[in-house]
Amino acid sequence: MSALEGRIAAVTGAGRGIGREIALLFAREGAQVVVNDLGGDFDGSGSGGVAHDVVAEIEAAGGRAVANLDSVATVEGGRAIFQTALDAFGGLDVLVNNAGILRDRTLFKMEEEDWDLVQDVHLKGHYCCSRPFAQYIRETSRPGCRIINFSSVSGLLGNFGQSNYGAAKAGIAGFSRVLALELEKYGCTVNTISPGAATRMTIPLAEGRGETVDPNDPKRGPQQVAPVVAWLASPAAQEVTGQIFNIMRGELGIMQQPAVIRAFKSEDVFRLDQLDELMPKLVEAKRVHDEQVAKGAEPEPVEG
Ligand SMILES: NC(=O)c1ccc[n+]([C@@H]2O[C@H](COP(=O)([O-])OP(=O)(O)OC[C@H]3O[C@@H](n4cnc5c(N)ncnc54)[C@H](O)[C@@H]3O)[C@@H](O)[C@H]2O)c1
Repeated sequence: MSALEGRIAAVTGAGRGIGREIALLFAREGAQVVVNDLGGDFDGSGSGGVAHDVVAEIEAAGGRAVANLDSVATVEGGRAIFQTALDAFGGLDVLVNNAGILRDRTLFKMEEEDWDLVQDVHLKGHYCCSRPFAQYIRETSRPGCRIINFSSVSGLLGNFGQSNYGAAKAGIAGFSRVLALELEKYGCTVNTISPGAATRMTIPLAEGRGETVDPNDPKRGPQQVAPVVAWLASPAAQEVTGQIFNIMRGELGIMQQPAVIRAFKSEDVFRLDQLDELMPKLVEAKRVHDEQVAKGAEPEPVEG
């Protein structure tokens, strides 16, 4: 039996890039798929029908899919994506919050619209699409559901010129941690992907650094992300929740979450002269910790 046989999934931003690969693999693994995509430009302007192309591709290969062209950035859009799954397939088991745009600028040049649109599509988009699904899971006690969210090293580690996008992507990691707790008792897992893939979103950035990237290279293209998402959507992942998985350049890893590394305790409010001594110790503890984490993150080769 295929890994996602009988499952119903909605994948946002599935008309191109990483989302398209996820929708195609989900359908090959037996899922019925809502292919959502607004179909606009990479900066969030415009709209188009790319979702229909992916549905046609899935159907031509013998799979089942339906297109939805709503924006994830509105509450109405999120509800409509969920309703499309109910109308077409009679339920929903898996939501992949993948849709995204970029408006890269340093803060000096970042206008309010650049900030707001990126928050709306990424962070609010996760809220708009997840809420109807979460309510449905609670109301129907639907078992084994999954929410898979999309963060980025831009927010988890930091990246120049992306304060809007980085803030939204770090927010998504926080959103996912909370949602994992809230949905645990309903048996729904919530995990986060930190991807790296050659798509229209990243190819111009790589080319700007003088790199040539081939989206068909399995180590660089968006197809490397899809199996990780499919596994998280499958029954095999029932006990895995609240985690962040990093998949890029053919390397799969799990990321650390914020945690206190070293701490001091005082019976009174810390004095500034005490902090002169304690703060450098904390900063040093963090440096040593980062070194150890970096060593642990050296990828191990996988046979076969
Ligand atoms: N490619 C990478 O290296 C990379 C790195 C970090 C994070 N990500 C994240 O992965 C996800 C997928 O990115 P990608 O590289 O495949 O980009 P992409 O531009 O190829 O695909 C994103 C899709 O989302 C759709 N979309 C945009 N706004 C939408 C909206 N409001 N409603 C519905 N659909 C909308 C677009 O039309 C597009 O088809 C994004 O969330 C992105 O931020 C990608």
